[in-house]
Amino acid sequence: MASITPDVATRLKPDSIPVIKLILEELCNLQPDQAVLIISDARTPDHVVACFQGMALAFGAEAVTMECRIPEGGATYQPGSRWPSMLAQAAKEADLIIDMAVGYAEFIVDAIRNGARVICPGDGIGGPFMDDVLIRTMLHVDIHAIRRHADQIAARFSDAKTCIVITGTDELMIDLTDVPGESGCGFLWDPDKKDWKSSWTFLPPAQPGILVPKGRGTGSINVDGTLLYHPDYHEKPDTQLRLTFEDGHLKCIGGDRVMAARLEAWLDGLGDEGAYYGPVHLNIGNNPNALLTQSQEWERVYGSITCGMGDFSLLGGLMPGIDPNILNKSSVHWDWTVLHPKILLDDRVFAEKGRIYAV
Ligand SMILES: [Fe+2]
Repeated sequence: MASITPDVATRLKPDSIPVIKLILEELCNLQPDQAVLIISDARTPDHVVACFQGMALAFGAEAVTMECRIPEGGATYQPGSRWPSMLAQAAKEADLIIDMAVGYAEFIVDAIRNGARVICPGDGIGGPFMDDVLIRTMLHVDIHAIRRHADQIAARFSDAKTCIVITGTDELMIDLTDVPGESGCGFLWDPDKKDWKSSWTFLPPAQPGILVPKGRGTGSINVDGTLLYHPDYHEKPDTQLRLTFEDGHLKCIGGDRVMAARLEAWLDGLGDEGAYYGPVHLNIGNNPNALLTQSQEWERVYGSITCGMGDFSLLGGLMPGIDPNILNKSSVHWDWTVLHPKILLDDRVFAEKGRIYAV
């Protein structure tokens, strides 16, 4: 699969207006009396910020924007980033936070505990072509079909006791006992049930899957998709990168010579034992229009899996029924993707050759 250069335009795309209306209306159920805080940094196109603010105002809501500095290290270092207290103060008053800069942060968790709901249209970063991604992966697909499919996938994970991911002759086994599936469908509001579905969600949809408690995950896997680590760059190995785990701990990095050396050197240099723990989450993409680009839309590429490493204490701590003490803590969170693995849930084929068997 080729890496894609998306459409990076400096003007407002007319199609941005209906997709942002869709997000505020159907995913966020925005009401006229609500307070909306829009957080961005200099990476977010001005016209995207203005469009979110203008559309929220058109709904009759109050809407303010705050632009903060670009965090050092990008998405990988979000768990350890520090944020101005001014942001936290504004977040306390928000009913809805449109986050295009922060991602994981303690003040976001506090705002949610205070009753706010948070949506991250660019998966925590408002990148230069996020409007292109949202139009392609939300407006040009049936997002409600993707949502319902994501719910079915989450139910399959909830019902299963084991997950085996097969790449070539290697297998990675994860014990799913007492691990509920999460839909990861991007909807705060469930338009079918007319009720709230989530307090914190990420776009584009969808990436259903599981949070993996610390200590689970044994075996080897061959990574042929995107690798997100330091620096804030989404890299795809030229040949497969082989990762070997023992009880949820990365023990050996092999395969692709250049990528293996770079990843090993980066991990060694961190001095953070928590960065070696994982997988901390496993998600499968089910968006037919998601591509391998420098946007985290690659987590939604249909039939691929993305696993996270390092920290997952912040988001996991908000999930109902999850004990925050069993989720790993680290100053970094990094990810790897496998494009078309074979996946068995309780020995039944759940995914193979890019197809998903959700029911
Ligand atoms: Fe991740």
